[in-house]
Amino acid sequence: MDHFTYRDGQLHAEDVPMAAIAEAVGTPVYIYSRATLERHAQVFKSALAGLPRTHVAFAIKANPNLAVLKVLARQGFGADVVSGGEIARALAAGMRAEDIVFSGVGKTRAELQYALDVGIGQFNLELEEEGAVLAQLAAACGKTASAVLRVNPDVDAGTHAKISTGKSENKFGVPISDAMGIFARLSGLPGLNLRGVALHIGSQLFDLAPLEAAYARVGALVAELRAAGHVIDRVDLGGGLGVPYERDKVPPSPADYGAMVERVTQGWDVTLMFEPGRVIVGNAGVLLTRVIWVKPGVLRPYVIVDAAMNDLARPAMYDAYHDFEAVNPSGTRVVANIAGPVCETGDTFAMGREIDAVQSGDLAIFRTAGAYGATMASTYNSRALVPEVMVDGDKFAVVAERVLPETLIAAEHVPDWLK
Ligand code: LLP
Repeated sequence: MDHFTYRDGQLHAEDVPMAAIAEAVGTPVYIYSRATLERHAQVFKSALAGLPRTHVAFAIKANPNLAVLKVLARQGFGADVVSGGEIARALAAGMRAEDIVFSGVGKTRAELQYALDVGIGQFNLELEEEGAVLAQLAAACGKTASAVLRVNPDVDAGTHAKISTGKSENKFGVPISDAMGIFARLSGLPGLNLRGVALHIGSQLFDLAPLEAAYARVGALVAELRAAGHVIDRVDLGGGLGVPYERDKVPPSPADYGAMVERVTQGWDVTLMFEPGRVIVGNAGVLLTRVIWVKPGVLRPYVIVDAAMNDLARPAMYDAYHDFEAVNPSGTRVVANIAGPVCETGDTFAMGREIDAVQSGDLAIFRTAGAYGATMASTYNSRALVPEVMVDGDKFAVVAERVLPETLIAAEHVPDWLK
């Protein structure tokens, strides 16, 4: 459920007409609803209410905007981060260092040191050598790093290949069969408290079965590790729950997910960590755009909008579907293609889609754009970096400014020898 609804035939974000935001901020612009964010956070938390000990670390990569993080921090969420920059954001948003989980397959030594310095709560190790280096760095500054080992359970998550992470050929985690040996070698090291395991098999999952199979494998590993004398008090179950980009395709609910987790983790006696991203923010954001032209095409018209693949990369990268709706629909529907102004055929949001009939100058939105939207934006074609707005009831604020080409040009330098 979200708070982007029509009132008197006009699309609103909570109580604010979309047109008012377009007027004040211009387009394209991402718009987030605070009430929707809070609702999603609460639905997720209540889905886990039956579990004994839990910690939710929002996967910041899905939406790192400080205002978004602030809303989630107030809901008690920590952060799952994958870079020094994301650690800085989580802290800037007021999240506590001990509530931060540091994932990522290529953490640099400088990033590990920074994470130790600020005292983050958990390192998710991706390879044995990383554990040894972390132990050394921690011991050298008189600290003990709290860590878990990410295992690759070799399960097909059944999602798009580019966002699948739990097959043995993927770059993430260590083969589950290597975990015992790695624990044996790392667990005695001064500076390291290796206390559990982590996994994440992919994103936009529509089926709980692969998750359940992966969790069951991890449960068996935990029993084996304990039998070998290791103290295991944490298991990080990752993220991955899908969202309904297409309204008639409904993913498992957080409640279904929570019930599955309860069943499969019965008796584990650990703190369960969760790293949801998309399911929290996906439907809490839309991308507002203005139609530039309706260009006659050979087969169908092209609706050329002022948002492009640099603002919302998902359709170009993953053939992703995002609903397109007019802000003031006339009731007439047409079949059209939707594309942006970037000079690539890949800058196409939809082909042959039935949509609200729109004209040059009309406003429209792409829905379900709160996750992996603004954060994946670029300035390709020397376009501005897209701004972000948050709505709260009848008020709204710019929470990320439009970065203009002039600003980007000012950060570039022509060396003297070219002048
Ligand atoms: N934890 C780890 C270790 C991850 O790698 C990810 C996402 C998450 C949690 C959060 O997953 P979520 O709950 O959001 O599915 N840009 C792509 C998605 C990439 C996901 C990468 N990892 C897209 O736009 O679909």
